[in-house]
Amino acid sequence: MKQPERNAVRNANIARQRRDIRPRYQRRGSAIRLVILASMGTLLISGCGDDADEHARQVKADKAATNDPALIKQGRYMARASDCSSCHTTEDGADYAGGLAFATPVGDIFSTNITPDTEHGIGNYTLDDYTRALREGQTADGHLYPAMPFPSFARLTDDDIEALYAWNMHTVVPDSTPNRASEIPFPLDMRWPMWLWEKLFSPLEPWQDNAEKSDEWNRGAYLVQGPGHCSSCHTERGLALQEKAQTQDDDGYLGGAMIEGWRAFNLTPDAKSGLGSWSEENIVTYLSTGNLPGRAQAGGPMADVISYSTRHMSDDDLHAMAVYLMSLPALNSQGEAGDAVNDGDHDVEKPLATRFNQGAPADDVLALRGQPLDTRSDDNNLVGQLTDATPGDRLYLGHCAACHGASGGGTPGGDYPSLFHNSVTGSVHADNLAQVILNGVERESDEHNVFMPAFDRRLTDDELINLMDYLDNRFGRGQQKVSLEEPDNRRQQLSDKIPDWRDE
Ligand code: HEC
Ligand code: HEC
Ligand code: HEC
Repeated sequence: MKQPERNAVRNANIARQRRDIRPRYQRRGSAIRLVILASMGTLLISGCGDDADEHARQVKADKAATNDPALIKQGRYMARASDCSSCHTTEDGADYAGGLAFATPVGDIFSTNITPDTEHGIGNYTLDDYTRALREGQTADGHLYPAMPFPSFARLTDDDIEALYAWNMHTVVPDSTPNRASEIPFPLDMRWPMWLWEKLFSPLEPWQDNAEKSDEWNRGAYLVQGPGHCSSCHTERGLALQEKAQTQDDDGYLGGAMIEGWRAFNLTPDAKSGLGSWSEENIVTYLSTGNLPGRAQAGGPMADVISYSTRHMSDDDLHAMAVYLMSLPALNSQGEAGDAVNDGDHDVEKPLATRFNQGAPADDVLALRGQPLDTRSDDNNLVGQLTDATPGDRLYLGHCAACHGASGGGTPGGDYPSLFHNSVTGSVHADNLAQVILNGVERESDEHNVFMPAFDRRLTDDELINLMDYLDNRFGRGQQKVSLEEPDNRRQQLSDKIPDWRDE
């Protein structure tokens, strides 16, 4: 081969390898299953001539009235706190030009172009139109699906909505990318039932301070319930896919839920199942960096929340959110009243077994040092491997030890995190561990981007299960030991879920 050809082949190989290991969690939004509700009819609001002129005048007036640098600055901050970009910007598209797919069982829907382009974006929105879209999910074209988190944004204050409008109209660059039609077939695509859904399931009013609570609590509660829409992932949903609770006054609020194949953990201060063993500062560190060494790192959907939203927020605001989270009624893993550390009803001498303190450094892999290589030829591909290595040892050594260390302790600063005392290996839910291994981790941070490769294409199903068992025994709860020869329930359970995990 000539040099240029060789280069081309090499480049193609590198590109292929990159593709194979690229973290593959793709933002896709929550799977809102609206089959029943979406199957009824559509609402079209039509305008007539005079109204249209009047409307155009109002748009102009509202834009002029909000062209204020301080207001725009406040709006930019609220856009971060509300994570608008995470859903309205795709990897290859212009900022806020929409097009991100949200899966539903009957077809994908897509986020819209919210740049101030007058043809394809929202350049013709008055402040009132904007307010209705954010708080009620209502637009001139009909009702939005709650993949747009209007049930939480209903909490936004008039002041913050005006600021968002100012930021949106005056600093977002207009872009003429047309909206993608939903792939939901007629008649399931009809939007008017969403009006009923909103009346039934979106009860929140704009935020008002509670005079009995501190300023910090009030600020935190507003940010968590409203712009932060934390409950859209961390609270279980009911049959119509409504969040079962939207404030601390309803049962189950932020008690943990599944989202896009990940476990969004319990955020209440329960000592065992929640964040009871965290300090407020721990929460601030996690939300500003995504990495709380010795406890938890953020992957998948939470990595996006950190990358695009919380890491841009002020420490004061993050602290206020922590104060609010720590004040929530504690919920145990059954979603019932739990035992909050801050109740004082808690034995500090003997910490409870939580997902944050499982496992210990492993010495099994270190003990293999200097062993001869196996020369047997058998079906298990043991040839060339250390004689006493179990399949788990081999997989761990081959794929993980280079970064996470032979003992699983990671690197001293925690850039490559410890795999014991890690909420993903220590959780009773296997989902996040499988997701991390298969899809890797990608997160933006202030210093450098965080990257763990995806192992989806490098592990067979059997290897994945062996590796997960190894990790569980060494660094996790270690309660579910399985042997290769005797497939048991857990093996079967893991195996049953693999197609979903590989699919996500
Ligand atoms: C969790 C994802 C998500 C977040 C966060 C989000 N949106 Fe949306 N938004 C959507 C989706 C999806 C749609 C389209 C829904 C539909 O077609 O029914 C939408 C629709 C809209 C619309 C209606 C647009 C039109 O074409 O008429 C506006 C306006 C809007 N979003 C503004 C915002 C703003 C401003 C923010 C931040 C304050 C935001 N969104 C945050 C997902 C999101
Ligand atoms: C798009 C879905 C989504 C949203 C929105 C979201 N989270 Fe999360 N969150 C997750 C997932 C999934 C995890 C688990 C991540 C992992 O294991 O790597 C998580 C983990 C966490 C953790 C670590 C818990 C642990 O035990 O390891 C904290 C703290 C947290 N989220 C707080 C928040 C707060 C506060 C908000 C609102 C500002 C929020 N989250 C919004 C999905 C979400
Ligand atoms: C190239 C280096 C590298 C390799 C190889 C690697 N990791 Fe990671 N791993 C990382 C980085 C970087 C992070 C993210 C740290 C952070 O979030 O700040 C991470 C995070 C994790 C987490 C925590 C994720 C979360 O969401 O909480 C687990 C669990 C994990 N890795 C397991 C594994 C396993 C199992 C293997 C082998 C199959 C492996 N890693 C291979 C670099 C690596």
